[in-house]
Amino acid sequence: MKRIQVAVLVQMIAEELLSWYDRHARELPWRLSPRQKRSNPDLLFADPYRVWLSEIMLQQTTVATVKGYYEKFLMAWPSVHNLASEELDNILSAWAGLGYYARARNLHKCAKVVAEQLGGIFPDTEEGLLKLPGVGPYTAAAIAAISFDRPTTVVDGNVERVIARYYALEDPLPGVKPQMKECAQKQTPNERAGDYAQAMMDLGATICTPRSPGCVICPIQTDCLGRKSGIAEDLPKKAPKKEKPTRRAYAYLFLSEERGALLRRRPEKGLLGGMTEVPTGNWIVQGNAEREPGLDQLSQWTELDGIVKHTFTHFHFEITVLTAKVSRDHDEVAKAVQGKWAHKSDFAALALPTVMKKILHHAGYT
Ligand code: ADE
Repeated sequence: MKRIQVAVLVQMIAEELLSWYDRHARELPWRLSPRQKRSNPDLLFADPYRVWLSEIMLQQTTVATVKGYYEKFLMAWPSVHNLASEELDNILSAWAGLGYYARARNLHKCAKVVAEQLGGIFPDTEEGLLKLPGVGPYTAAAIAAISFDRPTTVVDGNVERVIARYYALEDPLPGVKPQMKECAQKQTPNERAGDYAQAMMDLGATICTPRSPGCVICPIQTDCLGRKSGIAEDLPKKAPKKEKPTRRAYAYLFLSEERGALLRRRPEKGLLGGMTEVPTGNWIVQGNAEREPGLDQLSQWTELDGIVKHTFTHFHFEITVLTAKVSRDHDEVAKAVQGKWAHKSDFAALALPTVMKKILHHAGYT
């Protein structure tokens, strides 16, 4: 008896959500909206290349930020073959500012696998997609649902919030995740799985928002346990976060009227791997920044007032900026730091991470 009730309830959510989505889906550049599908029934499913590209970009990044990058990428590399044959450096440059640069490296790796080993065709199942570089459980489920209408369970942060509230799951994240997944699985419909997955995301992004959720206009308000018991806004609960440590370093900015700023490439492995940097000393894990004798000895340095602050996923970063004017021996200095001189006008083409842009900006060199 209970089982039947659950099944009926589950179907109702899908119906309500899909009918809401038909009227209120956000128009997003990587998405075939219900309106577009109605006016062109041949375009049943969305191009997997576009869905994959958008989903990789949307990991840890907002829709608003992704839009511009997505359009730029699609313009430069309209197919997976174009992206696969591009130099990694150019992809990293175009990615600069989106953060989490391992995603860009995996993007390129994955494009190569699809173009060179799979004849340009993306796998059409969750299991097949999971084997691709940079494609984890969430992304595989999302592409399988959105591009191929597979009834997968797609759970991102927005969906977690909707589920936690709908079922009034009061245990904190991340421990409650398996329970969320189980609930989400139960209510995934067999039809229109891609629209349904995106309806859940849109509901989380526009109505079931972290603060002040719009319960009165929510299409699934009637049976929402969180709303009924008045705790919706407090869910999902989160286990207390560990305080992020602060790392500190000096940045050594060589400036030349003639040649610009001296920048170098970071090692391939590790944080900001392969990206362009203003030379920095050791990133001290605890305590004050330490000068780097090898860089110190190359010039007379002036310490700028103030510090540059940036936050990475696992730590805060505080940088004290040193500048030195170089008016001769440019090539020798560049060789000593294994860097290259770059003019401001070259910056747009370099893979300059946000933290490095902040350092240049702090020194008034942008
Ligand atoms: N966030 C991640 N993927 C998304 C999608 N396809 N639509 C809306 N928001 C998203």
